[in-house]
Amino acid sequence: MKTIGVFDSGVGGLSVLRALLAEIPEARFVYVSDSAHAPYGARPPSEVLDRALHITRQLRSDHAIDALVVACNTATAHAVDALRAGHAGLPVVGVEPALKPAALMTRTGHVGVLATTGTVHSGRFQRLLSSAEAGASQRVHFSVQACEGLADAIECFDEARTRRLCVHYLAELHRSNPDLPPIDALVLGCTHYPFAAHLLAELCGPAVALVETGAPVARRTRAVLPLDAFAHEPAGPAPLLLLSSGPPDALSNAADRWLGRREPVNALPF
Ligand code: DGL
Repeated sequence: MKTIGVFDSGVGGLSVLRALLAEIPEARFVYVSDSAHAPYGARPPSEVLDRALHITRQLRSDHAIDALVVACNTATAHAVDALRAGHAGLPVVGVEPALKPAALMTRTGHVGVLATTGTVHSGRFQRLLSSAEAGASQRVHFSVQACEGLADAIECFDEARTRRLCVHYLAELHRSNPDLPPIDALVLGCTHYPFAAHLLAELCGPAVALVETGAPVARRTRAVLPLDAFAHEPAGPAPLLLLSSGPPDALSNAADRWLGRREPVNALPF
């Protein structure tokens, strides 16, 4: 059985793990929530890089992972190249905002993007934005909104604060380009945001498609695993080990609520 390591700053990566569990039920998963260092979106890139390197070393030495999924847009932006360079032979799958799929979907030619400050200001995201604008078959405009605090509100299960911030950032998004046609696709460029999808859908209305990345990332992960990874039939739900660098309750409650899995949470060694 292959072991897949998955990490995020907190519980947001569970939106990717949910898709992985459905796509690869033959695997064993080790999920790390680095909540003692969350949110990543407001941290300097070098700190996020250090955390990503540390977590990957732990996952390799203690859990002998066969593949790594960086279930965090911010950590992917700051660390995926270094992880690949430092861990040759380990398949590393990153997550990035789904700008190109959204460009294919939009009919109005106007796409909204919500992401963390760290992602929005990263060179990797700016390159992705230029390439999505240049590669689109029609003229597409991306309105990009950094959402300070939104991942943290979701992490804390603070529904009132999450709603307030969604209202605020959607208003900012609309204010930034009032002369353009309305957006009809909204990219959720942080893995926490799918857990606010019910609020975003209600606030945006049915004409706006919410675009997230869990399912394509899960398909990509399956594709990079060696073929013998699927030699046996799954005998039940995939084994799942939960690790957290912070208090265990947030991760255990989130896994229960969003994955329907009540699992013990172990401490991630610092
Ligand atoms: N879930 C993360 C992302 O996809 C990070 C959120 C944060 O810690 O700021 O960017």
